[in-house]
Amino acid sequence: MRNRFVRWVVFLLIGVGIGATIGYFDAQSEMKNGVIKTSPDDIYKRKPSRKKPKDFTDIAKNFGGEFTLVNQDGKIVTQDDFSNSYKLIFFGFSYCPEVCPTELMKMTLILGDLKDDISTKITPIFVSIDPERDTPEQLKQYVEQFNPDMVGLTGTKEQIEAVKKSFRVYASKIENKDMEGYMMNHSSFMYLMDKDNKLVAMYPATDTAEDIADDIYARGL
Ligand code: NI
Repeated sequence: MRNRFVRWVVFLLIGVGIGATIGYFDAQSEMKNGVIKTSPDDIYKRKPSRKKPKDFTDIAKNFGGEFTLVNQDGKIVTQDDFSNSYKLIFFGFSYCPEVCPTELMKMTLILGDLKDDISTKITPIFVSIDPERDTPEQLKQYVEQFNPDMVGLTGTKEQIEAVKKSFRVYASKIENKDMEGYMMNHSSFMYLMDKDNKLVAMYPATDTAEDIADDIYARGL
């Protein structure tokens, strides 16, 4: 009888212990989320740097333009399909082990850092420079991991070559006998385009999410 009681107490204590541990980690992750997704008012608390935004008018004259690609649902799209919003565009490949995931995560952080009335004006877009492996289905799974609103674009080899050229994107294949598959070496700028598909700004990978959010904020979209 006593043994049974002791056993119950032990079970109870273990149960409480597990519950407390789960509760603790839940609270931790919520705190983390709180930092990642700042509330709309936080941008004022954080004090944007107020640096004068860099002028890209000269580069913009010969940049971007028309494109025909395929989105993650297999639908053919052109620049006109995005003419009612600003765009944050990054070129990469879904098999990229490091830079692309970091930059796409950054894109999500930027949008989370901006006030809602600004972030909703911007469509996040990932364009593949590896059409061989990045099928629409592959891209669909990939971009969903970062942002449910992120658009994934791929196309034929020729379509991708054309869009790379107009956005001055550099990419090359690296093959290694010791490696399964291949890697892609690629430039890693993030581009802010306006509704008319004109370049507004380009950001190197060294810019943080806060730097870019500040810059976008300062441009007053
Ligand atoms: Ni990459």
